[in-house]
Amino acid sequence: MKTTITVNGEARTLDVDPRTTLLDALREHLRLTGTKKGCDHGQCGACTVLVNGTRINSCLSLAVMHDGDEVTTIEGIGTAEKLHPLQQAFLTEDAFQCGYCTPGQICSAIGMLAEIEAGLPSHASADVAAAPQLNAEEIRERMSGNICRCTAYPQIVEAIKRAAGEMA
Ligand code: FES
Ligand code: FES
Repeated sequence: MKTTITVNGEARTLDVDPRTTLLDALREHLRLTGTKKGCDHGQCGACTVLVNGTRINSCLSLAVMHDGDEVTTIEGIGTAEKLHPLQQAFLTEDAFQCGYCTPGQICSAIGMLAEIEAGLPSHASADVAAAPQLNAEEIRERMSGNICRCTAYPQIVEAIKRAAGEMA
């Protein structure tokens, strides 16, 4: 089945079995292997990408559902010469350890910061009507879908705080 997805700013037409997940389409068909496959059933967040600016688990979504969508993967976020502030902050704060979870963590953090910017509350928000704060509790709650087996969680929180300060 033909489907056209704009991936990292470039329109890509794929001819895929309708059962192909977005994750497999990215990795196996487009050879964009920055997005990682961990659990393959929505529990680890390693496969997180941005679809039209919103973070999703690409293992839980079919490629054909994204005809016409804009997908951003880690390959579309910063370059080796010019890192995104979050990528730099992950290095500075030692949040990048084995690195397997890192692409998903970074895509998720971008989505999470946009959610805070848009005023969307989380389970950790004391007052759901007030503007959410960028504190450790909010970051931990909002990043709870991304598992890091190296347990770099304290550093990941610090990296997100640092990058958010620099991006503001
Ligand atoms: S690979 Fe998608 S959530 Fe684990
Ligand atoms: S840095 Fe290794 S799993 Fe997170």
